[in-house]
Amino acid sequence: MTRHFIDLVDAGPDALRAMLDDARTRKQVRAGWPRGKPDLDRPLDGYVLAMVFEKNSTRTRVSFDMAMRQLGGTTIVMDAGSTQLGRGETVADTARVLSRYVDAIMIRTDDHAKARELAEYASVPVINGLTDQSHPCQIMADLLTIIERKGGVEGTRWAWLGDGNNVLHSIIEAGALLGFDVAAACPEGYEPNPAVVEAARRIGNRPPLLTRDPREAVAGADVVVTDTWISMGQAHAEEKLAALAPYQVTEALMGDATGDGIFLHCLPAHRGEEVVDAVIDGPQSAIWDEAENRLHAQKAVLLWCLGKL
Ligand code: CP
Ligand code: NVA
Repeated sequence: MTRHFIDLVDAGPDALRAMLDDARTRKQVRAGWPRGKPDLDRPLDGYVLAMVFEKNSTRTRVSFDMAMRQLGGTTIVMDAGSTQLGRGETVADTARVLSRYVDAIMIRTDDHAKARELAEYASVPVINGLTDQSHPCQIMADLLTIIERKGGVEGTRWAWLGDGNNVLHSIIEAGALLGFDVAAACPEGYEPNPAVVEAARRIGNRPPLLTRDPREAVAGADVVVTDTWISMGQAHAEEKLAALAPYQVTEALMGDATGDGIFLHCLPAHRGEEVVDAVIDGPQSAIWDEAENRLHAQKAVLLWCLGKL
C-alpha cells in the first residue's frame, strides 16, 4: 500500500517513533559535514520529489530540497501560479500525471481536502507540507527537538497559547499518539477544530485540556508553543488580534513553566505579537534547532513514505 503522510495518524505511533530515531541518528552521523554532501548510504539515490506550493514557504521548501539532496535524490518545485493546477486542472488529474514522473509528491495547500484528494488519486506517496488543518512535518521537527533536549516526549506536558490553528491540531494529534499532555489556551472563537480534539480523545488516553486561561495551560509545562495569530490565507482582523492579545508569550508566562521549560515556534514569527523578543531570543528558546530539525525529521518522513524505514 502506498504510504502517505497527510496526518500523523497515517503513520501511527510505531512508525513515528522509528522515524524520529532514524532522524536523530542520521543527524548525529553527518554533524559537521558540508550541507549538500549526501549521507553515505544515499538511500534515495535516483528518487525525485515534486513539491507543489499553493502558499509561501521558506523552511518547508528549503528543508525538503536539502533533505532530498542529502538522501541522494532531487526535487522539482512547482509553484501554483505557474502550473496547470493553478489554472483549474483537477487535483485527481494532477495526481495521476505526477505519479507517472516522480517518486513522491509534497503539497502545501489551503485546503486539507485537496491534500487528501491528491493522495487518493496518486500512486506515489503524498506528504502534507501544511494545510489549513494540519502541519505534521512541523510537529515531527518539534518532537525531534524535544527528544534531543529532554530525552523523550512521553509523559511531557506541552502548553499552547494563542490561535487554535493547523499547528496546534498536529500537536494535539501527536500528544494522543505518543502519550504526552497538551494544554491549549485559546480565546473564544479561536479554539481548535472540535473534530481534531474528538479524534485525539478517541486515539489517546490523554485528552487535551482546553482552557481560556494562559497561566493554567503553562503551569508546570515542559514545552510552551505558539504560532502566528493570522495564518496564511486568513484576513488580517483587528478583532482577532485583540482577542489574542492576552495570550502573548511573555517572560512572566515562561516563568510559570518548569524551570527548564522550552519555547518552540514553527516560524515565521510576528515578534511583539504572539511572543516577545525576550522569550523567542531567550535562553529557553529552541527555535533554531527546531527550524534545523525540519530537515532531519523530513528525511525520515521521506524514507518512511518510500518504504526505506
Ligand atoms: N514553519 C514553516 O512551515 O515555515 P515555512 O512557512 O517557511 O515553510
Ligand atoms: N499557522 C501558520 C503556520 C506557518 C508555518 C500558517 O498556516 O500560516
